[in-house]
Parts: sequence; C-alpha cells; structure tokens
Amino acid sequence: MSIYETVDAFIADVKHVLAEEGASAPALERIADLMRDLVRSPIVDQVHEELAGNIHQGRQSRPLYTDASGLTLVRGRFDPDAMTPIHNHGSWGIIGVYRGRDRYQIWRRLDDGQRPGSAHVELVEERIMEPGDVAVLPPPPQDIHAQQGLDGAPAYELVLFGANTMILPRLYFDPAQGTAVEVQLGQR
Ligand SMILES: [Fe+2]
Repeated sequence: MSIYETVDAFIADVKHVLAEEGASAPALERIADLMRDLVRSPIVDQVHEELAGNIHQGRQSRPLYTDASGLTLVRGRFDPDAMTPIHNHGSWGIIGVYRGRDRYQIWRRLDDGQRPGSAHVELVEERIMEPGDVAVLPPPPQDIHAQQGLDGAPAYELVLFGANTMILPRLYFDPAQGTAVEVQLGQR
C-alpha cells in the first residue's frame, strides 16, 4: 500500500486512472484501491479535524476537492440513530470508511426508470464497513444505497464522486410505496 501525504496526491492518482481507462468498471476498482490507501493514511486525521463542525447527518460537508470535470471528493458522517433514506446521487462513487463502523446497504433498481415518481428497488446486500474498507457505487441508475453508523457512534467516510453531487438532484426511494422522489441537496 502507499501512504498519501495530501488529498491532492490522491486526486492526481485518480485522474491518472481516469485518463487511462475512463470510468470503466475495472477503473473504478483501481480507484477503490487508491481510496483504501487514502482512508488508511494519517492525512485523514488531519482532514477530520479540519472539517469538525462542518457536517450534517447523512449529508456531505463542503467538498474537499471539486473541479470542472465534476470529480468531487467529500466527507460524510452517518449517525447511529437511524438509517439514511434509500437514495442515490446520480453519479458513480467510491466510498471509504475512515472512522467508526458503517451498516451499508446496496440496493438495486429493477424498473426502467421511465415513469417519474415511481421505482421498484430491492435490497441486494447489507455489509458492515470498518475503517479502511471501501465500496464502489456503480454508475446511475444503480448507485443506490443506505447507511447508518453502528455501535452508538457516527461512521465517517470519504466519498469520491465522478460528478458534482453537490448540485445534482438525488432520488429518495421508498420500496414499500414503490416511489422515487427527487430531492435537491439541502432540502431535507
Ligand atoms: Fe449516499
């Protein structure tokens, strides 16, 4: 493994992979390896301290990195009180947990997405993510997940998105109702 001294060094490696392969499935796996190195590097402690107080339950803080290509790195915090809604971000993403434990659910959309407001989703897998663990969010429409901190404590993570998810609408899914509601970040 390599140790990252700066977020910029991680972003440079990510851009190298994207320039070589685009956002292909193998490229996302390579970037997941880079994220595994990042969340295991001491730099995350520094980032954590810098961002203290700048976080919201189930939402991301101000980006640690974003550029005109849309590539965006954010930090997320997931409290233990409740699971986030089942949601997506409209982008591929790479999640890396760096503190706490995360109950992480992967959901899959089964309908063709052609009827606004309606969606059929099913739970694919639930896993526990520990510090140093990573997960790949596939490109939309299958970038659907839900998360919750475990052990009565928040889970903290870094997430790299291929598009600027700070300005993209999300979908919130309700499997029982068969609905998908579009939400702009900051509305809930
Ligand atoms: Fe999310």
